[in-house]
Amino acid sequence: MSKYCKLGINIDHVATVRNARGENHPNVVRAAKIVEKAGADIITIHLREDRRHIVDADLLDIKNNINLPINLEIAPTMEMIDIAISLNPHSICLVPEKRQEITTEGGLDINSNFKNLNLISEKISKTDIKLACFIDCDNRQIDLLNNLGIKIVEFHTGQYAISNNDKDKDFYYNKLKKAVIYSSNLGFTCNAGHGLNFENVSKIASIKKIQELNIGHFLIGESIFYGLEYVIKKMRNLINTARK
Ligand code: PXP
Repeated sequence: MSKYCKLGINIDHVATVRNARGENHPNVVRAAKIVEKAGADIITIHLREDRRHIVDADLLDIKNNINLPINLEIAPTMEMIDIAISLNPHSICLVPEKRQEITTEGGLDINSNFKNLNLISEKISKTDIKLACFIDCDNRQIDLLNNLGIKIVEFHTGQYAISNNDKDKDFYYNKLKKAVIYSSNLGFTCNAGHGLNFENVSKIASIKKIQELNIGHFLIGESIFYGLEYVIKKMRNLINTARK
């Protein structure tokens, strides 16, 4: 097991600010170049069906100008899968999407999406793209993914992140830890993300079987005060320290 935990930076909210004015500032490729320079391992972008932040033109712009692997978050629809296949990112992470939600509020329900995910998995298996699903820390969801042969999982850390007392924090932390152990024993690659910040990342990163963390909103917000390169480097150091 590698000591190193990869860091994916989600730059969606650079596009949120850009779209507020409908022009091209702040530019997402410029942000992605800083992400690369700051030592992140992955650029994560979520192409939502309503295109509220990242838009189709950003995909190729980032692909053509950045050397980091792209992790494309999308809803599990054939329209999105076709877009993903034509972009050919390093990985896809399937996320649930509701138009009214402010952010990805829970994990993907594998049971109700089973048939659809089977078709998607078959289609993606003919490409070089790695396929992951964003799920809650729940063994039933893991078992269903295992049945589908989808062996990369990103666990939703949102409930842990928003817990505001030690009892809840411990509860969600232990739930995550158990899910990581359970899925690793089945041969899954385990990633995690959502709601992570300087205060809560160390505990999550100390779970050594987690191979990648995807972090966005906090870092983009914090970069207003300290700059993008600085905040990414600080996050990188916190994660590295948690692994020692
Ligand atoms: N991972 C997934 C699958 C997500 O959907 C998101 C939010 O887009 C993140 C990680 C990053 O979450 P946050 O922006 O809260 O750091």
